[in-house]
Amino acid sequence: MTQPIRYELLRRDEHSLARRGRLTTPHGVIETPVFMPVGTQATVKTMAPWELAEVGAGIILSNTYHLHLRPGEELVRKAGGLHGFMHWDGAVLTDSGGFQVFSLADLRKITDDGVTFRSHLDGSLHSFTPESVMEIENALGADIIMAFDECPPYPATREYVETSLRRTLDWAARCKAAHRRPDEQGLFGIVQGGEHIDLRKESAQRLVELDFPGYAIGGLSVGEPKPLMYEILSATTPWLPADKPRYLMGVGSPDDLFEGVERGVDMFDCVLPTRIARNGTVLTSEGKRVMKNARYGDDFLPLDPNCQCKVCQTFSRAYIRHLLKADEVLGIRLTTYHNVYFMLDLMKQIRQSLDEGRFLLYKQEFYARYGYNET
Ligand code: GUN
Ligand code: ZN
Repeated sequence: MTQPIRYELLRRDEHSLARRGRLTTPHGVIETPVFMPVGTQATVKTMAPWELAEVGAGIILSNTYHLHLRPGEELVRKAGGLHGFMHWDGAVLTDSGGFQVFSLADLRKITDDGVTFRSHLDGSLHSFTPESVMEIENALGADIIMAFDECPPYPATREYVETSLRRTLDWAARCKAAHRRPDEQGLFGIVQGGEHIDLRKESAQRLVELDFPGYAIGGLSVGEPKPLMYEILSATTPWLPADKPRYLMGVGSPDDLFEGVERGVDMFDCVLPTRIARNGTVLTSEGKRVMKNARYGDDFLPLDPNCQCKVCQTFSRAYIRHLLKADEVLGIRLTTYHNVYFMLDLMKQIRQSLDEGRFLLYKQEFYARYGYNET
């Protein structure tokens, strides 16, 4: 069997756990650390696939939960999988629904077999099991597919997290057994264990015994304080194999990228840049800017004078503010385009700083300009 996902560790940082690597997928080679824009409904909201390519995206994330409910995986399979359906020839990763079903669906009932839930769209009854989720993800055809897991809430009792972790580990083994396209799609296991360091360690070790081509760290950024998230991360990545990629799920504000990379994470995804773009907030080298603010009314500078994106090379803050105030769709297209470019460019700068052995220095510089306090 040929392995569809290969990770090559290119360089380790001398002053932290940070790594420079390269991920080879059936749809391209991805330099890591990498940020993956979120395309929940087989679209990164407002962006055409050629625009994603233009801003430098190599891999995007999509969601099993949403695509199963609408339009259904059978249609996507008939269209040639997500790549054919959405005409994106870069890499795709699908999340398993193990998070959305807990955050979006109504009337969930969890058993050892799986989860029964009502659709947030029309209230219809559905159930996910590790086997059914693998069938859906096999049909969607992403390059990387995620195991079906339970993401326990924060806070939760230790007893709850333990029971949930047993189940998630059992589901991981069942996902591996049910995966029908292992030479075309890489299946990643997901570390859980809540805030409990010993459970995180056990979770990682048990998943490593199952031998996945990559490992995700889930159950973070679910309401816990950031220092706790960083502590859990620090205690988790050392138990993961150095020759496999590590993916921190659903995390990705600019400071989280630095803190995650510093602790040995290679892959990130987050709705933040696309979500805040739709309410008119942009990320810049000098921090966030709320573009509907009156101060931008006659400001003819670009969104970020230090940004090389097409939006910043073309339009003024005043024009973009006008579009947003007038509810013109171009407004949110332009803020989204810039924000995704910003995150991908930030990660490119991080990779370059790793290549040049000055990652922590770059972090310090970035924080000072952006307005974060050093941690
Ligand atoms: N996205 C963010 N966190 C999680 C998680 O814990 N599990 C899954 N499947 N997806 C996530
Ligand atoms: Zn820009």
